[in-house]
Amino acid sequence: METMVGLKRTHSCDFLNKQNEGEEVVLCGWVARRRDHGGLIFLDLRDRSGFVQVVFSQDVDVDSFTKAETVRSEYVLAVRGIVKLRDAATINANIATGEIEVYGTELRILNAAKTPPFYIQDNIDVDETLRLKYRYLDLRRPEMQRNLMLRHRVAKTMRDFLDNNGFMEIETPMLAKSTPEGARDYLVPSRVSPGKFYALPQSPQTFKQMLMVAGMERYFQIVRCFRDEDLRADRQPEFTQLDIEMSFIDQEEILTIMENMTARIFKEALDVEIQTPFLRLSYEDAMNRYGSDKPDIRFDMELVDLSDAVKNSNFKVFETVLANGGQVKAINVKGYANAPRRELDGLIEYVSTYGAKGLAWISYTSEGIKSAITKFLTDENMADITKAAGIETGDLLLIVADKPAVVANSLGQLRLEMARRLNLIDNDKLSFLWVVDFPMFEHDEEENRWVAMHHMFTSPRDEDVEYLESNPGRVKAKAYDMVLNGTEVGGGSIRIYNRELQERVFTAIGFTQEEAFAKFGYMLEAFEYGTPPHGGIAFGLDRLIMIMAKRPSIRDVIAFPKTQSATDVMTQAPSEVDAKQLRELSIKTTVVAKVKV
Ligand code: AMO
Ligand code: AMP
Repeated sequence: METMVGLKRTHSCDFLNKQNEGEEVVLCGWVARRRDHGGLIFLDLRDRSGFVQVVFSQDVDVDSFTKAETVRSEYVLAVRGIVKLRDAATINANIATGEIEVYGTELRILNAAKTPPFYIQDNIDVDETLRLKYRYLDLRRPEMQRNLMLRHRVAKTMRDFLDNNGFMEIETPMLAKSTPEGARDYLVPSRVSPGKFYALPQSPQTFKQMLMVAGMERYFQIVRCFRDEDLRADRQPEFTQLDIEMSFIDQEEILTIMENMTARIFKEALDVEIQTPFLRLSYEDAMNRYGSDKPDIRFDMELVDLSDAVKNSNFKVFETVLANGGQVKAINVKGYANAPRRELDGLIEYVSTYGAKGLAWISYTSEGIKSAITKFLTDENMADITKAAGIETGDLLLIVADKPAVVANSLGQLRLEMARRLNLIDNDKLSFLWVVDFPMFEHDEEENRWVAMHHMFTSPRDEDVEYLESNPGRVKAKAYDMVLNGTEVGGGSIRIYNRELQERVFTAIGFTQEEAFAKFGYMLEAFEYGTPPHGGIAFGLDRLIMIMAKRPSIRDVIAFPKTQSATDVMTQAPSEVDAKQLRELSIKTTVVAKVKV
């Protein structure tokens, strides 16, 4: 192994071009590829910036040529050499440095490498667990490096934008207090207070509000949040928020500042112009038209209400559902009347996973209407359906009758599924919108009580405050979500800043006075010492980057993510701990430790 002594890196690989012709350069990096052509050895040298081709020739330097014969993929090298233009025939238009190559005059092997368990290149088809186990190799792949660079650029732009707009970055505790509601907490036992636990914060929500009481006026933080919930492609147990809070503002001002920030981020990081202001859609409209509170509006196929059109039919399913306060709604899958029967049968199963008890279909083929249910429908029903759903020949109508929540969920998901199957989604499109006017509460059927839809510090709309006790279901909140391409990338609200109103909301979600005080006494107290009106928002940084990088999972934009089962396969966390550590924490587990045989 050799050292860098006497050598100073002069360039990153990717920064070399025709202009450097004739210059002596020193490059450092990894061997991406090595080709031996007898008297010539070609190495693709890779560093963080990209690739360059290095040539070793016996005629130029025997010593480095001999060494070059011994190097293998992923060896770490330092190379001194001269930049030369390539012959026209050997120009590689696929890489930025394809017009030049570097003739090596000195080679130092800084480190050797074992053969990696997978190729260090883009678009590999490798089990993700293997990639995560060898994450340090996975992250050498150019696409992963680009994702992390994008992430850095976005975070930097956020900081610059917010700094320019009078926001201060302030850190808040990671060892915090366990709170009810939301997801499950990650707990940390206290050694000095035996039997007591901290919780890792699910978000800095109460701290940022305390900072507003403290007169900070404009706060932000790029902060890790912890939630012990079921994991999905866009959910990690620890994830990063851009967390924001402001005093003396109203909802419209927050949305505008956030739109401006988002536009800036896309310009700086991707050189993409996005149109502001974003569409604002009420929660009710979103649910009615798209069956989702985070609608993907890159394509149409809106839900249509057929409840009126199918009135007085002879179809018992529809009649029963309508009589019980349900709905009959549909999506019109344009031009898909000839969907194979097998696929249609499969769709029934698809919607059943979202609670629908059935799926009726009518296909308007050029040979006539095909359907199992039209025999129960009158001519008037059929005419009204055609009108309501904008039916043309060639269309396929997919119908669900059920309770409104089931109709929304199953048809909303079916809408997305059909768009995926029929390739209706333009991957280059960026469709932003705000969902506003959320209900304040949703009813938890299992526990038979109201729970806060956003969180319990969210302010009800002024005109709805009077219904907090008498009719919680009709109270709307000053809450908003930013949605991008069908993903909720951010959410926030205008907050309660008055003790009495906060206590009424606690009561509405079933807290007793004592419970409320035990959990949030400091907040109620703080509200009596001059709290400014305030509000804020938090963005899911990982989700935003995932969409910007066009990746299917947030794991691809996090350096060291967890698996679906919340483990880190590289470090093997979580792991068992010593009995001594547990004793110090006054903890006994009921899990029998695995005995090594
Ligand atoms: P909320 O719970 O909506 O709001 O979270 C804000 C944003 O964080 C992202 N997000 C996640 N990303 C990855 N993995 C997860 N498990 C995960 N959970 C949430 C989403 C979401 O929009 N304190 C409030 C904000 C406020 O009111 O200001 C909050 O945390 O993109
Ligand atoms: P059935 O009379 O139950 O055999 O249903 C006749 C057709 O109506 C089948 O295609 C079912 O999938 C469909 N269907 C049944 N229940 C519903 C429902 N709740 N909503 C929409 N279609 C349904």
